[in-house]
Amino acid sequence: MNKVLSNFSIKDYNTFNIDVKSNKFISINTEDQLINYLTKNKGQEDIFFLGGGSNVLFSKDYNGTIVHLSIKGKKIIEESDDNIIVEVCSGENWHEFVMWSIENNYGGIENLSLIPGNVGAAPIQNIGAYGVELRDVFDSCRVLSRESNEIEHFNKDKCEFNYRSSIFKSKEKNKYVILSIRLKLSKEPHSFNLTYDSLKERFNSKEINLSNISEEIIKIRKSKLPDPKKIGNCGSFFKNPIIESQKLEKLLQKYPKLPHHKSENGFYKIPAAWLIEKIGFKDESLGDVGVYIHQPLVIVNNGNASGSDILKFANSIKNSVREVFNIKLEEEVNII
Ligand code: EPU
Repeated sequence: MNKVLSNFSIKDYNTFNIDVKSNKFISINTEDQLINYLTKNKGQEDIFFLGGGSNVLFSKDYNGTIVHLSIKGKKIIEESDDNIIVEVCSGENWHEFVMWSIENNYGGIENLSLIPGNVGAAPIQNIGAYGVELRDVFDSCRVLSRESNEIEHFNKDKCEFNYRSSIFKSKEKNKYVILSIRLKLSKEPHSFNLTYDSLKERFNSKEINLSNISEEIIKIRKSKLPDPKKIGNCGSFFKNPIIESQKLEKLLQKYPKLPHHKSENGFYKIPAAWLIEKIGFKDESLGDVGVYIHQPLVIVNNGNASGSDILKFANSIKNSVREVFNIKLEEEVNII
């Protein structure tokens, strides 16, 4: 078992690169270690489970214990002529896993290339990009119940996936720790998702295959999103708001260029980036905090910003968007 560290800076464990301290910090490498640790500390409430730290904003020092989950491993547990079911442990890096699937010619997650973070976080917010979401390939996951300290299985329906959300981010928030996920990938991939025009237009004269799709996605993401190793960020800070058609019509009268995409049940998805740009936040900053020049939905730490500065800045974006457009932005990033 690794040592419990005290008063530990987690600057290297969050992609906003914020220098906050955790009262206690421990890295866990196996499921047994995790179960032992939680059995010993039964009833302790103030535990935060940290994966890749790429979707969390620590707004202040953490006055409890951070358990850093670093459980590794993957294995194919079922195989037919067409598909495999692969089980991946929560501490594996998501992008490295995508690269493994492409090297082995397993299709289904190529559009999710270069998403930062670890596998364990993927179901919590149902990661998605370029027309594909985790739920499209998800089979089930193994989780540890915080209440009983027992392992449980959640199938896809039980996870209640939604746009950037799941049961683990809504009604069962903080009740389970994801141990591993099972995904169904295709062995002979022949159908690819090119529904996003920005992706499709890159394949006019290029062969459509897994590695080419992944390569193009990586190029697009690199051109739009800052590399967290160079500029602190957590990807999209807010979700794209989904509004009713009446509200859209009203807004279109005032802002005829407002981009909008049809969503489910007669609702429309609006790019939050457009709203943020329109209210002038590309030119705003608060100390070292600002938005990324190529994608204003991404809030960046250009140096030594504190978590509370980032939160203040995010809240001022939220307030302006509400005042100007009467739209309530919801954070995609978890705020602690
Ligand atoms: N836009 C602007 N100004 C800009 C940039 C973009 O107005 O400077 C507007 C444009 O209308 C553009 C639209 O924003 O067409 C959409 O931009 P983009 O294609 O970059 O996508 P997004 O809606 O901002 C979402 C996801 C991303 C994902 C991309 C591609 C959310 C919250 N974000 O971003 O996911 O990579 O689509 O599928 O749904 C993440 O979740 O962290 C993330 C990066």
